[in-house]
Amino acid sequence: MASPASAPHPTECRRGSTAASTTPQASEMAPWASAPAAESAAGGRSPGTSSVPAARSASKGDRPVATAWTVDGAPLSTPATAPARSPARTVDASMDDNDACNGWLVDTLRTHRPPAPGGVAVPVLLPDHTLTSLDEYIDDFEGGQGLVRARELGPPGIIETIEAAGLRGRGGAGFPTGRKWASIRAGGLEVGDRYAVGNGAEGEPGTFKDRTLMRRNPYQVVEGLAIAAATVDAVSAYLAVKASFEPEIAALTRALQEMSAAGLVGDVPISLVTGPEEYLFGEEKALLEVIEGEDPLPRLFPPYIYGLFTAMPQMGWSAGIDLSSDGVAVPSSNPTLVQNVESLANVVPILGHGSDWYRTMGTAESPGVAIATVVGDVQHAGVAEVELGTPLGEVIERIGGGPKPGRTIKAVLSGVASGVITARNLDVPVSYEGLAKIDSGLGSLGFIVYDDTADMVAVAHAVSKFLYVESCGQCPACKFGTGEITAYLDRIATDEGTDRDIEVIGARLDIVTDANRCFLGAQEQALIGSLLREFPEEFAAHLEGAPPAPEVLVPKLVDIRDGVATYDERQARKRPDWTYAEE
Ligand SMILES: Cc1cc2nc3c(=O)[nH]c(=O)nc-3n(C[C@H](O)[C@H](O)[C@H](O)COP(=O)(O)O)c2cc1C
Ligand code: SF4
Repeated sequence: MASPASAPHPTECRRGSTAASTTPQASEMAPWASAPAAESAAGGRSPGTSSVPAARSASKGDRPVATAWTVDGAPLSTPATAPARSPARTVDASMDDNDACNGWLVDTLRTHRPPAPGGVAVPVLLPDHTLTSLDEYIDDFEGGQGLVRARELGPPGIIETIEAAGLRGRGGAGFPTGRKWASIRAGGLEVGDRYAVGNGAEGEPGTFKDRTLMRRNPYQVVEGLAIAAATVDAVSAYLAVKASFEPEIAALTRALQEMSAAGLVGDVPISLVTGPEEYLFGEEKALLEVIEGEDPLPRLFPPYIYGLFTAMPQMGWSAGIDLSSDGVAVPSSNPTLVQNVESLANVVPILGHGSDWYRTMGTAESPGVAIATVVGDVQHAGVAEVELGTPLGEVIERIGGGPKPGRTIKAVLSGVASGVITARNLDVPVSYEGLAKIDSGLGSLGFIVYDDTADMVAVAHAVSKFLYVESCGQCPACKFGTGEITAYLDRIATDEGTDRDIEVIGARLDIVTDANRCFLGAQEQALIGSLLREFPEEFAAHLEGAPPAPEVLVPKLVDIRDGVATYDERQARKRPDWTYAEE
């Protein structure tokens, strides 16, 4: 992710007060605050006269929170409950001593070939057709190779191999995967039970890579999670996806059943958990809440410090208990590994073929492959595996067919989490370091392309509104800040803005990250700040009376089929308390 920059803007910026009429109202602030009756009725929520927080109570009835299945498909519970504590394990039990490994298959290993130079279609994660059975996975896609090697290596060797391969998380933040696994193991038994979670909640606008992976190759995700769970010595593991992801749920259920029957998931039980539509469901601290049956409200502490089903309470900012200052987990904190599903799938070929092989692809700082999505003003939307380091323009050309006839690319967003990429940077390597160098970020490789017809003020308004609506409101700077910025961008886009509105946006961008629990406010700062910096003339044009900007729909993807992307149209009606306005 790009480091949040101080808010740049076309005119000189002074801190200033805001017009009361554009300030978000208290009822809009927190989705769980009492909702006005009319709003909640429209959104299917119960009228908000009760003192019970609206979204929390409604969510149990109207909106799926967490439903879990065991691997054989039988309902476990709704919401998920803490599994029974299993007997203590030896901290340094090697995989060979671990029952989890006894059923792991050994099969012949074939060698993946390194990709052609600059190649986009590298069959390491995504087979060219949907794998419909475990046999097909083993025969056609080297299934089981990771488990075979994992058993030989044992946890320390597994972690060493992943670290040597340089794998970084594909969920957005790019944290080194091996280091994360080592930190979860490091606490020892005194920290309580450990858990492993595969994050398949995919909600980043412009991103459809996890869903494509889970549909086409669910087996590799399960294999990666089984290896992760055994490596960190987890008592149980969870695969979390949105309840609306029906094809993925069917594919993962099939994979879990077949692999379980074949003894390929070891003895760490894996449950499939489904959750709500909200963007924050994918945020790791919120994800744990959902698995525990709550709404997706990010916790204070990261999962490696405050994990699943922990017996100890979270401490407030002023509770005076030094839980996190030195980053050390304490008794019963249940360190939990949260890993994006694509990161987990990468572990399988890395173990199967080794870190040197993995490093034959990608760059020194961004080895290997990743799955990219291209949507927006391109000839066709698509998803494909790319070698990291491939120039962005080439990725857009190969996956999206390039811009539409007669058009040129003006800007590309990498999800809604980092700075805009402008036309002059289309040759940037798609790598962590490449995008960081131009003040953007790799994120989850969801590239939203805008051509020369796009109005970047409208884009800024749409993204800011998305973040405002999805913000949970636990941190005032985030909810009020994104709300005010959205309101001012709306004024500018509809030609009611003044120079002072730009100044206020700049001032709010400076503080929108203050004391936040999660990264959402920083996303607003990085992306909206970069749009102001890169397209000052478009903001100025609206201040001078250019035609009002059209509404832009943020590409929250529902599907990509035959080159056509379907966006969630409901998002346009979603309100800041997570209810929906009537059509
Ligand atoms: C607002 C927000 C939304 C996120 N959504 C997702 C998501 O949908 N899927 C995901 O894997 N990570 C998401 N993340 C990142 C996770 O918090 C976490 O970093 C990631 O799952 C860790 O896995 P990785 O190390 O394999 O990337 C999100 C983060 C934020 C701040
Ligand atoms: S930063 Fe925003 S989205 Fe994240 S927890 Fe705080 S209010 Fe919620």
